[in-house]
Amino acid sequence: MYKIININTIKTEKEGELSFFQSNDDVDFVINRIYYIHGVKKNTKRGKHAHKKLQQILFCPYGSIDIILDDGYDVRVITLDNPTIGLIIGPAIWREMIWKVDDSVLCVAASLLYDESDYIRDYNEFKNYVKGTKNNGD
Ligand code: TYD
Repeated sequence: MYKIININTIKTEKEGELSFFQSNDDVDFVINRIYYIHGVKKNTKRGKHAHKKLQQILFCPYGSIDIILDDGYDVRVITLDNPTIGLIIGPAIWREMIWKVDDSVLCVAASLLYDESDYIRDYNEFKNYVKGTKNNGD
């Protein structure tokens, strides 16, 4: 599962905008971890993994980043280039991120603490995992 949300944003005439989201109201998981990726040059590709349980919201406060999302059946590209747009990504979604502009910043708020055993870093393993969860009715 993944979906795009509009992040609450308060605009002022001369002092810019303030955007915010909080657990339960805007994202239906409790946020336990924040991380952000910065200092990345254009055309760099990161990600190339899926998660078993982790839920996340991604947003790009500066720049432009293509997020390639693969649920094991369909592939879609969502461009994050607007600080008021959030992309919620649930479990079992293979993602790759491509930087379109130098020094774009990717921020992530996540449901769980860092746990390498929650990662699926091999694409064939991901495809098998998706088939398995579908057959189990999960
Ligand atoms: P990774 O999630 O693979 O980044 P990306 O998807 O952008 O390529 O993480 C990169 C490295 O950072 C990896 O060695 C794991 C480590 N890491 C942490 O230690 N804690 C964290 O919260 C995250 C997200 C990554």
